[in-house]
Amino acid sequence: MKKIAVYTSGGDAPGMNSCIRAIVRGAAYHGVEVYGIVRGYNGMINGDIIPLNSQSVSNIIQRGGTILKSARSKEFLTTEGRKKAYAQLQAKGIEGLVAIGGNGTFTGAEIFYNEFKIPCVGAPGTIDNDLYGTDYTIGYDTAVNTALDAIDKIRDTADSHDRVFFIEVMGRDSGYIAIQCAIAGGAEAVMIPENLTPVSEVMETLLKGFSKAKSSSIVIVAEGDEEGNAQKVAQKIKDQMKIELDIRVTTLGHIQRGGVPTAADRILASRLGLGALEGLLRGEKNVMAGVVNNQLVYTPFHDTITKKKPVSEDLIRMVEILST
Ligand code: F6P
Repeated sequence: MKKIAVYTSGGDAPGMNSCIRAIVRGAAYHGVEVYGIVRGYNGMINGDIIPLNSQSVSNIIQRGGTILKSARSKEFLTTEGRKKAYAQLQAKGIEGLVAIGGNGTFTGAEIFYNEFKIPCVGAPGTIDNDLYGTDYTIGYDTAVNTALDAIDKIRDTADSHDRVFFIEVMGRDSGYIAIQCAIAGGAEAVMIPENLTPVSEVMETLLKGFSKAKSSSIVIVAEGDEEGNAQKVAQKIKDQMKIELDIRVTTLGHIQRGGVPTAADRILASRLGLGALEGLLRGEKNVMAGVVNNQLVYTPFHDTITKKKPVSEDLIRMVEILST
């Protein structure tokens, strides 16, 4: 394989640039020509494909976002769109792909491989950490630390005013950011999609805290929780609580997706980027590179997309025990 391309797709994540850098520098080391596809699958369809070299990725290891930009492509979901993308890759002579992204990215990559047989290896880049086949995804550690910094600040004001705060963190279908933030931020309760916590239970926990002279509380709500987002959960609790509480809601939103990647994310991204590239050059295809128990492994896209990575019961239990 002499010519490959790399792209980032779906929600961006801090560390994606470190990953691109590893792929480009690794390709140079192995004497492989490398291109960057701009704006993920949209760029593939439109032929927005640029040559990259070692210098193109100087001074990006520490930068949030992605120099290749990202998109969620509707056109790539159509056969027509994918045919156009294939024609663009053919025209450039691209023989292999490295995809950096999450579930949607690898769903697209698997369909594309099945149709056109261009080998593709993925590197998991999403703040959600919800991909089967890797213990950690690129961007997760940074997102948790960004959210935690905000939670610590909210704790100060919650305490000064004897308030209950419901803080919503990202995770459409995943409670990974929420559980880490709850433990590290000393939250009184956490609500995640993987483990239904009814509002009645949260109310009980809050009352138990007040009975032990707690004057303020923090509840972390994953955006995808079944009881609703933080705003909805707070409203339910306001309506059902017998005592009056001074409640506020904060949604942290997209600040969790930006910022300087942590050392852990830069190292993980470099390892997974190089791992994905070298896997591709060795003949791996239709798989995602991941780190499981500190070992580099390759998992079929099909499994990463369809299998669930459960949040550890231990962590959920820990929040319950340590919160009151
Ligand atoms: O997948 C990462 C993520 O940040 C989710 O946690 C969140 O639900 C979603 O992306 C938001 O996507 P968008 O930026 O397209 O609104």
